[in-house]
Amino acid sequence: MKEIWDNRMAFILASIGSAIGLGNIWRFPYIAYRYGGGAFLIPYLIALFTAGIPLLILEFTLGHKTENAAPLAFASYRKRWKWLGWFAVAVAFGIVCYYTVIMSWSFIYFFHSFSLSWGNIPEYFFNNMVLERSGSPLQLGGINILVLVFLVVTWMAIYYSIYNGVKTVGKVVYVTVILPWLILLIFIIRGITLPGAMTGLSYYLTPNFAALKDPVVWVNAYAQIFFTLSVGLGIMIAYSSYLPRKADLINNAFIIGFANCFTSFLAGIAVFSSLGFLAHQTGQDVANVVASGPGLAFVVYPTIINMLPFGNRVFGALFFMMLLTLGIDSAFSLVEAASKATIEQWKISRRTLNLFIAGTGILIGLIFTTRAGIYWLDIIDHYLCCYGLVIVGFLEAIFVGYFINTESFRSYMNEQSEIKAGRWWIFFVKIVVPVVLLGTLGYGAYQEFLTPYGGYPTSVLIVGFGFLLILTLVAIMLSKKERRL
Ligand code: PFF
Repeated sequence: MKEIWDNRMAFILASIGSAIGLGNIWRFPYIAYRYGGGAFLIPYLIALFTAGIPLLILEFTLGHKTENAAPLAFASYRKRWKWLGWFAVAVAFGIVCYYTVIMSWSFIYFFHSFSLSWGNIPEYFFNNMVLERSGSPLQLGGINILVLVFLVVTWMAIYYSIYNGVKTVGKVVYVTVILPWLILLIFIIRGITLPGAMTGLSYYLTPNFAALKDPVVWVNAYAQIFFTLSVGLGIMIAYSSYLPRKADLINNAFIIGFANCFTSFLAGIAVFSSLGFLAHQTGQDVANVVASGPGLAFVVYPTIINMLPFGNRVFGALFFMMLLTLGIDSAFSLVEAASKATIEQWKISRRTLNLFIAGTGILIGLIFTTRAGIYWLDIIDHYLCCYGLVIVGFLEAIFVGYFINTESFRSYMNEQSEIKAGRWWIFFVKIVVPVVLLGTLGYGAYQEFLTPYGGYPTSVLIVGFGFLLILTLVAIMLSKKERRL
């Protein structure tokens, strides 16, 4: 019998949970600040409407119509395209291998917040006490046992969250979506009532319209939309394949897209009001304290928490609880995409398979638990997110736009939905998405050519790029296998 979501809410929350992740907190606010402040919302929303939502609708329709995860969803139209499905899933799996390591750090910090153990120099604590970071990517320095222990804990949490497939997921997401929203609300209120908050917010929101003339700003807006909606990974295809026959696809895509982007916007308020406070307390300019990525979460935030007038430990624990709940539903959505694809290909029980996936995830994750883990995490993240995801999105649009009957695809989604996709949808999928994503890819490659990413030695970057290549080969090999049910 076909497995389906308990109700529409479960599907919507699970997709929102996948979309809202660490990126909303530690990437969006920084990108917005850097690329035009309040004015960035213009390219960002344009990107949402012209690429994000059209692709979300595309993936939902593909999953719903074929009732399959990515590989068979593509194969049921054109057999030759099956590899693209496996490639999307392989990239998703590659991402979850390091995403879980970031969650492991968050676990460690969650426990440290009860004693504020990072002390007065959080940067030193992060690099030397938690990561025990080595001097370069090539100095692995052995495995950091504590990080490994919490990596295993993270995988156990993932395993149980998808224990019975979407039946369990549909329940877990009520907590993992709603709880971080509530905590975010607490941080917004806390943030804007701190001295210096308004200065921080003016850095975040003061529009710089001149920035809109710069193509780099647009590239970043599209890349961010793409990444934040979790498209191009086969997740939304797998999730929508569990929808009942009668399900509104387009409406759901709008709800999920809006909920995600609104959350990012609010996260920016929480982050920048606190940065304003930090600048105020230390007598610096906000521009000097701005951070993104792990630096924001594990260095700057602990510093801010130290300075709060009261409840430091509680706010510390809440912050890392927020990261954990934000991350877990993105992490298990990445696993579910791979898991469903594999179950469809081989007759294998879900639980055995998920154990195998968790085991492999931990094994590959070992590299990120070494003393050089953070370097490799940064490098692999760069290649998978800047290239892997974007390549899938580009080819997906080309596939639906040029290799299948786009008109009948569109009428299928319209039969299903209250809001109708007009001809605009075809225009976005055939022209806008491919052109923009190709531009993003080209721009990324050009930058890479000018300056090697992150100042790493070329040999190291070749390994990162090689990882992407390996995933491609694995995908091609898997797509040659016949379906065995
Ligand atoms: N959309 C989530 C985030 O922004 O954190 C999850 C995610 C998607 C993580 C894609 C990583 C990624 F490459």
